[in-house]
Amino acid sequence: MKAKMMRAKLKNQFAAVFAVAPVFLFDVLTFPFAGKSFFCPSEGRHTRTMKPDKHRQGGNLMLLINAVNAEGRPVELYAKDGKIAAVGQDLAALAGENETVLDAGGLTVLPAFVDLHCHWRTPGFEYKEDIETGSRAAAAGGYTFVNLMPNTKPVCSSAAQAAMVEQKAAEVGLCDVNQTVSITEDFDGKTIDHLKTLPASVKFITEDGHGVQDNATMARAFAICTQRDITVMSHAEDMEISPWDYRLAEDIETVRNCWLSEYYQTRLHMCHVSTRGALDAIQMAKLRGAPVTCEVTPHHLWFTNDTCDYRVNPPIRTADDVQALVDGIRTGIVDAIATDHAPHSEEDKLKGMAGMVGSETAFGVCYTKLCKQEGLPLEVLVHLMSTRPAEILGLAKGQLEPGYDADFVLVDLDTPYTVDKNKLHSKSHNCPFDGAQLYGRVCATVKGGELTYQAEE
Ligand code: DOR
Ligand code: ZN
Ligand code: ZN
Repeated sequence: MKAKMMRAKLKNQFAAVFAVAPVFLFDVLTFPFAGKSFFCPSEGRHTRTMKPDKHRQGGNLMLLINAVNAEGRPVELYAKDGKIAAVGQDLAALAGENETVLDAGGLTVLPAFVDLHCHWRTPGFEYKEDIETGSRAAAAGGYTFVNLMPNTKPVCSSAAQAAMVEQKAAEVGLCDVNQTVSITEDFDGKTIDHLKTLPASVKFITEDGHGVQDNATMARAFAICTQRDITVMSHAEDMEISPWDYRLAEDIETVRNCWLSEYYQTRLHMCHVSTRGALDAIQMAKLRGAPVTCEVTPHHLWFTNDTCDYRVNPPIRTADDVQALVDGIRTGIVDAIATDHAPHSEEDKLKGMAGMVGSETAFGVCYTKLCKQEGLPLEVLVHLMSTRPAEILGLAKGQLEPGYDADFVLVDLDTPYTVDKNKLHSKSHNCPFDGAQLYGRVCATVKGGELTYQAEE
């Protein structure tokens, strides 16, 4: 219900803008939380003809004014046909009549975030999250792309099921998605025949939620992926060891998978790296020339096991592990921050299911931890949350440069805010960040030149 109202609000907003546009020539969307409103004079304006994008001819247009970039310098951005057409200053002259002008009111503009690791729950577990609520949560967190894990019911083991999810997400239209496919069929741990016939559209496979136990099965899967140009995403967990030592379980599977990546030269992406040992193994593999990338999560950066016992896999680690992850970010071993957004109902959490929602808190948590507390430059965070994940996924996203998708986010870096799990857009509220005071609130998200989220107050 709330989601529907929100959509109606956005639609009305755009309807209103386009209704009055002929009168004012330029229309200004001004954020209620932002500074003074801004009106663009119409004199001397003309429209520059851009090369039309054959897929989006007649598409939307947008001029962003009154923003600052990650370095704090004033910047304007002009989007046409869903792509960034120009970035600089005094771009009003590029915009034609009737175009939408977005006044950032002094907020910081960043390339929208790209999530390498996210769980929506379609099909099978829509009571935890569906494509619409997942999309809204992603948009509210500043994301315009999420890479979805296949631990659904049925498990996503086919290109047809992946295409169905991607199609539904495209219909919602708030966040682009890639749906990954399982390494073994139906997570049976053995059968990998489906990998041989996957169409080229499938670029990422993973068993997330489980490790693949059998060495020979994993070796064969890596060999096939090298031939077929597929990236293996690894949830590193030896399932026989994890019940009694989850640290060893992560470290030992990380070593094996890094070795297989080097041996077969298979692209490998290590998910939610959480231990010093795993990160050391990844560093070694990179030094040896293995095509390995890795992500860490906001929760493994924020919490330590002496202050938080929230159930998540891999578990919340020690302060020493957190230090290793932060050091790995400083030295560039860590490629990306991914949310591992894992919605569960209250009942399922009481039954002991692992995971937490993360789309809507990721930027605030990471900005507060890494930039405010650890003194890292905002550009590093942009690299981790936007630029590098987009590169790993092969997307024209993650950079505010002409030719890239017009996907950006407006954030307030100065005003502290408190996380309220009841205000999340996700269907689930399993959020241990509830009550945390953060900086870096997401105020608006734009995808392809269209507003997909605007904060309420
Ligand atoms: O905590 C987790 N939750 N870890 C996983 O690997 C899976 C995820 C889920 O799907 O709930
Ligand atoms: Zn996982
Ligand atoms: Zn996951």
